[in-house]
Amino acid sequence: MREQLAGNPLDVLARWVDEARAADLPMPSTMTFATADADGVPHARTVLVTTVDACSLRFHSSTPTTKTQDLAANPHASAVFHWPALGRQVVLQGRAGELDGETSSAAYPDRPRQLQLVAWVYEALLPRLGPDRAVEPGAVEREFDAAAGDPRSARRPPSWTTVRLVPHRADFWQAGTETSPPGKTRFERDGDGWRSFPVLP
Ligand SMILES: Cc1cc2nc3c(=O)[nH]c(=O)nc-3n(C[C@H](O)[C@H](O)[C@H](O)COP(=O)(O)O)c2cc1C
Repeated sequence: MREQLAGNPLDVLARWVDEARAADLPMPSTMTFATADADGVPHARTVLVTTVDACSLRFHSSTPTTKTQDLAANPHASAVFHWPALGRQVVLQGRAGELDGETSSAAYPDRPRQLQLVAWVYEALLPRLGPDRAVEPGAVEREFDAAAGDPRSARRPPSWTTVRLVPHRADFWQAGTETSPPGKTRFERDGDGWRSFPVLP
């Protein structure tokens, strides 16, 4: 059922993620994260959001990757959450960038072991990428196994980073039914707060 939305859109987003999780939807906190390089060429990919607070979202990644290189040149970013089973979509626009290493070091121990090992794969292979970011066949698996057997993988590799997106616009879309149209509420930053209004869905 469509709800009336107002207030802080980050609070609504956190609640919608919680509701997707409570509904047992697969990967309830993944979003498509889009960046663009200095020439405006866009790049999008899926990431797993670990934190939604009152003014921002965070996810973890490695650097330098396409996304962090894009953000270093151009901090403008967009992101999309979509929960088809709930008939909900959220589109964000804002600015994004990397947080300091201490923040990432504090977050690393809580990450699932498989993702910690992937972080070490990036650490090993980022300096050895070929043209088009190609890796040698089998290199990812070899580095993953090597990290699994290395006690140093209990700590954050230097290339593992935290990216923070601070939205200034958020569009919340809710599906219609056979007898009612879809609805979209736009939130825009307004001083220290937000204003919200309906827009064409
Ligand atoms: C379900 C899913 C979750 C993912 N989560 C992350 C993530 O949290 N952080 C990340 O850097 N990459 C994540 N990835 C991999 C990215 O989509 C992407 O392939 C990788 O980050 C390299 O992106 P880039 O070269 O555009 O920077 C995820 C992929 C999938 C399919």
